[in-house]
Amino acid sequence: MTPSTTRLVVLRDRPAPGADPTPDLFAVEERPIPELGDGQLLVRNIAMSVDPSMRGRLELGDKQYTTNFQIGDPLDGSAIGEVIAAKASDISIGAVVRHRAGWREHAVVDGSSVVVVDADAAPVGAWLGVLGQTGFTAWVGINRIGELRAGDTVFISAAAGAVGSAAGSFAKLLGASRVLGSAGGAAKVAQVVEQFGYDDAMDYRAESPLDAVPRLAPDGIDVYFDNVGGPHLVAALHNMKIGGHVALCGMISQYSADGRGQDINHLIEAVLRRVTIRGFIVRDHEDMRPEFEDTVAGWLRSGEVDSAQTVTDGIDHAVEAFLGMLRGGNVGKALVRLDSSWAI
Ligand SMILES: NC(=O)c1ccc[n+]([C@@H]2O[C@H](COP(=O)([O-])OP(=O)(O)OC[C@H]3O[C@@H](n4cnc5c(N)ncnc54)[C@H](OP(=O)(O)O)[C@@H]3O)[C@@H](O)[C@H]2O)c1
Repeated sequence: MTPSTTRLVVLRDRPAPGADPTPDLFAVEERPIPELGDGQLLVRNIAMSVDPSMRGRLELGDKQYTTNFQIGDPLDGSAIGEVIAAKASDISIGAVVRHRAGWREHAVVDGSSVVVVDADAAPVGAWLGVLGQTGFTAWVGINRIGELRAGDTVFISAAAGAVGSAAGSFAKLLGASRVLGSAGGAAKVAQVVEQFGYDDAMDYRAESPLDAVPRLAPDGIDVYFDNVGGPHLVAALHNMKIGGHVALCGMISQYSADGRGQDINHLIEAVLRRVTIRGFIVRDHEDMRPEFEDTVAGWLRSGEVDSAQTVTDGIDHAVEAFLGMLRGGNVGKALVRLDSSWAI
């Protein structure tokens, strides 16, 4: 029997300008599952991705590359699930698919919009993490945007997070001579070195990036992979080598800020050091995905890359997982498991 209703997370209100989001802005509700149309699938979600980009999508007005959430509507985002009903689709019942209709236990999706994943080749969590969009973001940022060369010194902020942990491991495996990170707290600093292949790291809560970065990289940085913006970006700019590259991936320290930071005042450093600064959105680089999946699946199999994840169970705790991730509650990929019968 296929279910007729599903539980999902709805946006009740938007955060006030400059304020962090709070649990009362969200609710878990039960709503009817729409009838399947031609070519559609009914998917029972196994796990879903918790992403910093959702913070921006809580605001009014659309971003450059995605749509924002609407009050009264369910949230969405990457998820993996098992097909439990299909209508005129070439994807069979039982297939495991990755799609964009997370934040609900059951989803109706177009068969043409999903990717079938091999749940025997890697755990389903990895297909959302190091083998999924976050790993792919790290791959694009290190290779194409950062233009990593063997022997480079690389600095990565939010080093213990999903993108940062993958970026550090990839940079080392691709021949960087020194991979340096920043993370919040001594435990994360130890973990990035022990688990993710970093050579050294700083605790930005205990030491200012402006002091720590020249201490970690006295000869300068070739590639800065920026996940957080703010003081980290300023410190990196002041310590880039001539001709270095800055990959602007995200700026989580600024997502709840009201207005713009003063980082732009430091851009003269990019002039003086002939630095290339390039922002990117991962979805513009799909041509790199086959080489990414082949290489990283091999590294996962050989144990050279760790599919680290922080798993929260149940849709009732999904908002906690999201708000916790924004405050640094995760190591590796933040996931919510929706079907506890699956190991992820
Ligand atoms: N450009 C793209 O296409 C693309 C795609 C995916 C993600 N991104 C971006 O990549 C970045 C990382 O995303 P993710 O999914 O891997 O998230 P994540 O790093 O797993 O989680 C966010 C981490 O940010 C850190 N953080 C929070 N506030 C901070 C602050 N004020 N200063 C420094 N660090 C702070 C926290 O770690 P600590 O405990 O260390 O503070 C937290 O664990 C985000 O900026 C995201 O928007 C961009």
